[in-house]
Parts: sequence; structure tokens; C-alpha cells
Amino acid sequence: MSIPLNIGSDAQFRCVQRFLVDAGFDEDAIRHTFNLKEYYEYSLGDRREDVPAEPAGAYDLCVRLFLEGRIVPIESIRRTAGHEVAGALQALGLLQAESADLGGHYSPVALYPVHQLFIVSDRWTNPDGSLHAPADDMVYAALVRNTNSFLNLMPEWPCERFLDLCSGTGAAALCAARDNAKTAYAFDITERSTAFATFNARLNALPNVVMGRGDAYEPAGDLQFDRIVAHPPYVPVLRHKWTYHSGGRDGEQITRKLIEGLPRHLAPGGLFICLAAGTDRTTNLLENRIREWLGEASDEFDVVVVLRSVMDPAVFVIRQVLFGFANLDELRQWKEVFRELRVTSVVYGPIVIQRRTTPRKVFTLRRKAGRRSSPLEIFWMLQWEAMVAEGKLASRLLPSELKAVPGARLDIEHRLDGGTDWDARRYLLSTSYPFQMECDDAAFFALVTSRLQVPATGTALFEQLKQDGVLHPETDPEEFSEALATLVSGGFIQTSICPLPMNGNAKILDGLEDA
Ligand SMILES: C[S@@+](CC[C@H](N)C(=O)[O-])C[C@H]1O[C@@H](n2cnc3c(N)ncnc32)[C@H](O)[C@@H]1O
Repeated sequence: MSIPLNIGSDAQFRCVQRFLVDAGFDEDAIRHTFNLKEYYEYSLGDRREDVPAEPAGAYDLCVRLFLEGRIVPIESIRRTAGHEVAGALQALGLLQAESADLGGHYSPVALYPVHQLFIVSDRWTNPDGSLHAPADDMVYAALVRNTNSFLNLMPEWPCERFLDLCSGTGAAALCAARDNAKTAYAFDITERSTAFATFNARLNALPNVVMGRGDAYEPAGDLQFDRIVAHPPYVPVLRHKWTYHSGGRDGEQITRKLIEGLPRHLAPGGLFICLAAGTDRTTNLLENRIREWLGEASDEFDVVVVLRSVMDPAVFVIRQVLFGFANLDELRQWKEVFRELRVTSVVYGPIVIQRRTTPRKVFTLRRKAGRRSSPLEIFWMLQWEAMVAEGKLASRLLPSELKAVPGARLDIEHRLDGGTDWDARRYLLSTSYPFQMECDDAAFFALVTSRLQVPATGTALFEQLKQDGVLHPETDPEEFSEALATLVSGGFIQTSICPLPMNGNAKILDGLEDA
């Protein structure tokens, strides 16, 4: 497909940007217009019914041209937006004459606000409103729920070199360039995505974004980055469908390539955040397989998988048929592929990898997101588990203030077992914040959690438990600290040396199974 956009002059870009801002073309207004609970429920091309022939103003014109993809007579565009804006839109390729003579101009691309930026991507409707099949190199829309989830994962603290791999419109690189990165790089394999990302950087007046076209890290040479993010294609397919979508038979082929490149491209202390699906196998869980992908340098990286959804392979296969992505014949092939690969589940969620700065043990973890889990809890977990991995916990945990995290639940199973009194047998401690966690056989943990309803230092608690006969007087403080650390990791208690974010204003982790 030819690329409809032109890289025009700064003046033309500024003119269009000013027009969009002054029109009030923002997320709230659009949500309101289409009566949506969430902005990301809007599906590009969806149209309001019974709109009058003439646009009601600049905002309405933007909705018609850039979201609904309608044809608007050029005279109406000039009347509503002015000659200068209409000229700039045409010069940049955002407006084209409709060749089928339906009587006007239309926009060959979609343009919309995302995280307070203006983003251009491909559309999948024709000017007459009918749908067309996406081309292989279609530029993936940023106005979708999973790109929003991906953008919400970006850390707020500053970084020097930020790399957005599989960047599509470049939305993540653009957000980083605006918010906290000195230089943001956006790499994508298609020429089309690279061209659209270049256009988007100019439209948003962000000169600190560097584009690169190539497979994975190809455009990077030997460059290292202190933050690498990716929202790659991860859908398992029997046959390649679209470049933005198909991740090979197990869905992992691109993700794997990106992770294999981390030893070369992630700087010490750097963070890799990827939103993708992957598979657990009878041979190994996803996080352990990721560790293998890191190769010889694996002992320099912490690996965390946060689950938003877990799907049985049989359910995955049935969904392919239900959504029309596969027919009954392919259903058999799918079953065969998953059996051959020994897939036990298809999991989806953030994969987070950090490279340690100084020698220490590394950790491999899986967490299941709870209703209130947000990226802040993931970053808290990385910080806390790194402290645990550094060891010598007693000297830090015992002087710290400890307190119970609200929301824990204790289920006790009682048995009669022949006697007349019920015997408490099974203590199941559970919580859903910071993550969903269950701890079985947890009588001691439950007691510590209840004691810490009243905050106390680790030392005071240790002495009290010994006095009460709960702990042996000779208990090793390091051993006691390890038990406390397990409770902190589980989210049942927290410590003043690494307090929980308690969710702040961060967006909760969203879940969506399909790209
Ligand atoms: C799911 S889209 C995500 C786009 C964008 N990051 C977002 O979140 O909106 C995946 C992108 O990966 C790109 N891609 C696919 N294979 C690639 C590869 N081997 N190397 C680099 N980019 C690739 C596609 O062109 C597409 O733009």
C-alpha cells in the first residue's frame, strides 16, 4: 500500500496541531460524543447516525474526517477550518479528494488523541463506510484497549535512552520523548509504520525521537538503552496473517527475539517492559523459558511475568473458531500444534525484565494481577525483590516499621476427625493486593499479620513473639527476617524500607486476550 502522508513544513504541522487543539479534539470530548464509558471502547470508523450535512464546527469536522472517516465537501472544510488549515491538511496528506466522485474530500488515515498526543494510523474503513481487509503492513491503531494498557505501563521516572520496539505509530516513544526520556528511539520492521511514526513525531513537535526501520534491534547497532518497551505481535497463528499481529505458531517468535537481544542492548540497571502473550509448557513455565532465552548472561537479569489472563489451550483454539480466525479443519491443526509444543496454557500480561547493576542473586517470579494491581505495584515488586536478593535482611527489616496491608483474608478449615472438638487444620491466607496471592499452611503467617494490625518494628515484634512463647528464645533473627520477607513479598505486611504504593493514581492493569 502506498503511504499517503507527506512530511511537510514545520509551519504546516504547527497549523494542523493548533487546529486540533483549538477544536477541542480530545479524549473526553470524543468519549462524550459517542456516549462511551471508556475512550478506548471507540472503534475507528464507527459513525453517529443522522448527522446534518454541514459540520457543526471544528470539533465536529475532526470527528467526521479523522474518526468516522466520512467524506466532507472541500467547501465545508474550508468554511469550518479556514483556508490555511484546509491547505495544510492537504499538503500533509491528511486530506484527499475522493476519486469515486462521492462529492468531497476524506482523510486516508485515522487521526485521534492518545495520552494527550495526536496520533495518525491506518483505518480499516473505505470512504463510503464499508470495511476493507487490512493490508499486511497496516499501521496498528493506538486507539485500542491493549495499546492503552501498554502505554499505561510506562514508568514515570526519567531515562536517557528509551527504545520502543515494534513501535507501530510510535505512541510509546512519543510519550517518553515528551514525558521523561532524553532521547526516544522507535523501531519497527515496516516502512509504513516507520513513516507514520516519523509523521507523528513531527505533528507533536517532538524532535527527540529517532526512528529506525528493521527487524527487532537491527537499527540499533551496538547501542544500549536504559529502558526498552515493546508491544510486539504475539498472536499464535498457523499461517502469517498480518505483520502487526502474527507471532508464529506459539505467538512467541518476536517476543523471544526481543528478549534474546537484551544482553546486548539493555544497559545495566535498565528495564525492559513488554506486553504480550506467551505459553506455559509441560517442560517449563513462561518465566523460566524467558530466562533460558537470555542465554549466558541470564544471571544478570530479574524476570517477572504478571498475569492478566490465563487461557487453557483448548479454550484458545475454540475462540479462534468462534471469532472466525480459524475453521473446523484448522481446529484439528491447532490442537496438534499445542500438543506438539506441550502447551499447558496461553498467558497474557506484562513481562518485565531488569538488569542488575551490581553482583547479586537474581529472581524469577510470576504474579497474578488483582483488581487493584497497577504498574506501580510491579515497580514496587522489582525494588523489594532486589532488596531480598541482596541478602542480609535482618539488619534492614528488623529496625524498619512493619504493618499489615489491609484486605487480607484467612480461611480456616476445621475437621472433626473422630473427636468431639473441631480441629483447625488448614490456614489459607490470601489477598488480592498488590497481587493475587495465596499462602497455604499459614497459621504463623496469619498470626504475624494480625499482630501487625498495630504497626511495630521488626525487633519489637520479634521480642514479643519470643516472650509469648510463639517463637523459641534462640530463634535466629535472620531466619525470622526471611519469614517476614515472605510476608512482604506476598503483600500481607509491608515495611517502611519499601512501602507499597497503595495504587496512587496509576491505571490498573487492563486485560485483553487478543491483539
Ligand atoms: C501489535 S503492533 C503494536 C504497535 C505499537 N507498539 C502499539 O502498541 O500500538 C506490533 C508492531 O510490531 C511490528 N513488528 C512486527 N514484527 C516486527 C519485527 N520483527 N521487528 C520490529 N517490528 C516488528 C509491526 O509492524 C507492528 O507495528
